[in-house]
Amino acid sequence: MKGVILAGGLGSRLHPLTKITNKHLLPIYDKPMVYYSVETLVDAGIEDIIIVCGGNHAGEFLRLLGNGNQFGLKKLNYTYQEKEGGIAEALYLTREFVGNDRIVVLLGDNIFEKSVKQYVNEFQDQERGARIILTEVENPTEYGTAKLSGDKIEEIIEKPETPPSNLIVTGLYMYDSSVFEVIETLSPSSRGELEITDVNNTYLGKGILEYSILEGWWADAGSSIEAYYQAIKKVREKIYK
Ligand code: DAU
Repeated sequence: MKGVILAGGLGSRLHPLTKITNKHLLPIYDKPMVYYSVETLVDAGIEDIIIVCGGNHAGEFLRLLGNGNQFGLKKLNYTYQEKEGGIAEALYLTREFVGNDRIVVLLGDNIFEKSVKQYVNEFQDQERGARIILTEVENPTEYGTAKLSGDKIEEIIEKPETPPSNLIVTGLYMYDSSVFEVIETLSPSSRGELEITDVNNTYLGKGILEYSILEGWWADAGSSIEAYYQAIKKVREKIYK
């Protein structure tokens, strides 16, 4: 199992903070945002990791993370996304690194309170396909939101105006290596991006998308200044609780 951290994009929703640095290098309480992603994967037992950098100041990732020795890694791999073509486009850049392996993909602005190891184990036991992690939020219009029938997902709708539920898709995704063939079939969405939600809906259509419900809190530190602030607050509360 390999790990992919997606840290491309311009982080424009956090302007002006992201004018002079990369979103994923901003502090979340006592550590840069991207540290949490690396720690989450390492804790889940994943040691072969690639980071997709992009946007402004991408060279600073190397200066900050180097070979990942501070996380107990022997080396870290990097690639660069030239434009903000979407999460699925960023993921596609890792296809040679991934080869025929399975992957755990993590969005570089997502923070998880608890270990995600159990979901990785569940995926390992899965014969094929993909696995996503759902959690309940008060503002589902800002995320990929699940439409359920009983306990079956019928569809995932990206940022729905009228959300079908409060259950949203977190930025932790697990795929078999057929994900790259799936991405090749996608067309850009109305916002000009290759959407990860379209990847997940393709797996769903094939009947090979599984899901788990997240235990503990989750924060998307990059979607707004308020979300960024709330992420810092949650991390601080976890340290001092
Ligand atoms: O946080 C979970 C949500 O993330 C999901 O519920 C949505 O379904 C999913 O589309 C995504 O929505 P966002 O609008 O929050 O994604 P955002 O554009 O903020 O990108 C999230 C991370 O993905 C970001 O930290 C860096 C990476 N990314 C994003 C884009 C657009 C890239 O590496 N390259 C890109 O081109």
